Amino acid sequence: VSIAALIPAAGSGSRLGQGPKAYVEVGGLSLLARSVAALRAHVDEVIVALPDGLALPPGLSARCICGGVTRQESVSRLLDATAAEIVLIHDAARPFVPPEVVQAVLAAATQHGAATAALPVADTLVAQHPDGERGALWGQLTSREGLWAVQTPQGFDRALLLEAHRQAAQAGIQATDDAGLVARLGLSVALVPGDARLFKVTTPGDLALARALAPVWDSLVLESR
Ligand code: C5P
Repeated sequence: VSIAALIPAAGSGSRLGQGPKAYVEVGGLSLLARSVAALRAHVDEVIVALPDGLALPPGLSARCICGGVTRQESVSRLLDATAAEIVLIHDAARPFVPPEVVQAVLAAATQHGAATAALPVADTLVAQHPDGERGALWGQLTSREGLWAVQTPQGFDRALLLEAHRQAAQAGIQATDDAGLVARLGLSVALVPGDARLFKVTTPGDLALARALAPVWDSLVLESR
C-alpha cells in the first residue's frame, strides 16, 4: 500500500514568540527538517503544509502546500494533496521521532484503520476554578486513571480520515488532533505507546529542553546508522 507522511507546519508559533515555529532551529536543524528526515524513510512521499507565503527550506525531500487558518484545515488540505492509501500525520513541532514509534503507528493504522501515539498520564490532574484567577485550584480533582496524553504521529486509512474531516466540518467541530475526529464518529483508534521525547515544542521552556536534547539525540541517530 502507498503511504504519505503529512506534516502540518503552518502554525504561527505565537506561544513561542520566535516567528513561524517550523523554521525555528534546534541543534542546527529546523523543527521541520528534523520531522521530514525522521519520516522520509518510512513513507512514499512527504507533504508539508506551510504558512502562507513561506517556502520550503532548501534540501528537504518533500512537497509543500499552503496551510489553513487552523491545524484541522491544514490537515484537510494535506489530505486533498495525496492519493496514498495510508496517511501518517505528524506535527512539525515534535522534532524527535523514534523510528520504532513510526513503525508501530503504521502497523496499527494498517490493521485497525486509525492509530495514535500516546502516553499514559503520569501527573495528577486538577481543574482550575472556572471564575478564579490562574492558579486557583478547584476542589474537584480528575482521576488520571485510564487517561492518555495524545501525541503524533497518528496513522489512518486516508478515506476514513477524509470522512471524519468532512463530518467535523459539517458539524462545525474544531479539534486539536485527527484521532479525536475519528473517535467522535464512534470508531476506535488504537493507542500505541509513544515516547517522552515526542513532546511538542510549544513554550520557550520546551525549546530549551529540545536544544538540550538535540546533541544527545543526534549522536544516538548517528550511532544507529
Ligand atoms: O498550535 P499547535 O502547537 O497545536 O500546532 C500543532 C501543529 O499544527 C504544528 O506543527 C503547527 O505548525 C501546525 N499548524 C498548522 N496550521 C495551523 C496551525 C497549526 O499546520 N493553522
